[in-house]
Amino acid sequence: MKEFSVSTKIFLGEGSLEHLRSVKGKSVLIVTDDFIYKSGTAKKVADYLTDCRVSYFKDVVSDPPTEIISAGIKSLLKADADVMIAVGGGSSLDTAKVIRNMAEHICPQKVHIKECFAVPTTSGTGSEVTEFAVITDRKSHTKIPLHDVSLRPITAILDPSLVVSAPPSVTANTGMDVLTHAIESYVSVGANDFTDALAEKAFAMTVKYLPLAFQDGSNLFAREKMHNASCMAGLAFNSAGLGLNHGIAHALGATLHLPHGKANAILLPYTIEYNANLPACGNGIHSAAAQRYRKLAKIIGLPSETVMMGVQHLQSMVANLNRVLKIPADLKSAGTPLTETLKNEIAETALKDTTTASNPRVPTKQDIIDILNQCCE
Ligand SMILES: [Fe+2]
Repeated sequence: MKEFSVSTKIFLGEGSLEHLRSVKGKSVLIVTDDFIYKSGTAKKVADYLTDCRVSYFKDVVSDPPTEIISAGIKSLLKADADVMIAVGGGSSLDTAKVIRNMAEHICPQKVHIKECFAVPTTSGTGSEVTEFAVITDRKSHTKIPLHDVSLRPITAILDPSLVVSAPPSVTANTGMDVLTHAIESYVSVGANDFTDALAEKAFAMTVKYLPLAFQDGSNLFAREKMHNASCMAGLAFNSAGLGLNHGIAHALGATLHLPHGKANAILLPYTIEYNANLPACGNGIHSAAAQRYRKLAKIIGLPSETVMMGVQHLQSMVANLNRVLKIPADLKSAGTPLTETLKNEIAETALKDTTTASNPRVPTKQDIIDILNQCCE
């Protein structure tokens, strides 16, 4: 049995911030980071509110640690807020989701959040519609993926005007995160007809519009397509799950502080090769994952007369997209060489990561070390 459900209301397109005008006379806590606050973006969002008392929690950092969650809960209680608005990238959205969730559990009598908006300023995590959030335990250098339906934001606002100022490197990394979400959810053991539709569309849109958004950040049409693709891929993996690529990327991010999207991008050609497992083809029948990769290749018009051809062209397309986006092809070029001890640690952490559980091929520790070795060459 599989489940697909959508509960987040989604407002999309240029001008969708206008929806916030319906928030009147409330006490609002805006959760964001220092950069978004200083850039005036958080204030720009607040300006749409009507006669509201607005407080800011602007201490979000990337890979948000548990200490930041505690500080955010204190801010929420101090503000006595009945509306929360998360403004920023995946870290701000995840932080706001966890603050709300934990505060409601720890002190339900003091928390009375009625509305919770997620306003992404990057097109990447899809966090605005998912019931997942990732926080970091700094002591154990571990990323903790949290999963609970109560983490889903009530409303998502996808206004592409908020993304145009994202620098090219951020556009590249977050965009490759979208591509990884689409591909992993498509071959995941949890994939279903509903998630396939979303993943296929998000995949095709990302291949087409990510290079355009990277080359010209002010291309509002490409930005809007990427913003929507990010959200659609989020809806897909929220139901289907992800895979080993994310399991390893989480471990790499926690250990080496490699940006999440960049880690995914570097790993992706290798995890496609691993999951497709072309050499194991018996009697001309390839793995289900290989057949699905071929289908993705076909969708974007890559040569795919045979399964092998489709998989190999998909791999090459990802590697080529990385080159176009100026993402390094390996971990050494990314400035993160790995020792044998680190590879061992990363492999052990990736095996335990919840996203690895829905990978189409069950990996061993040695399989992960082999993938890391490939990424280091
Ligand atoms: Fe991701």
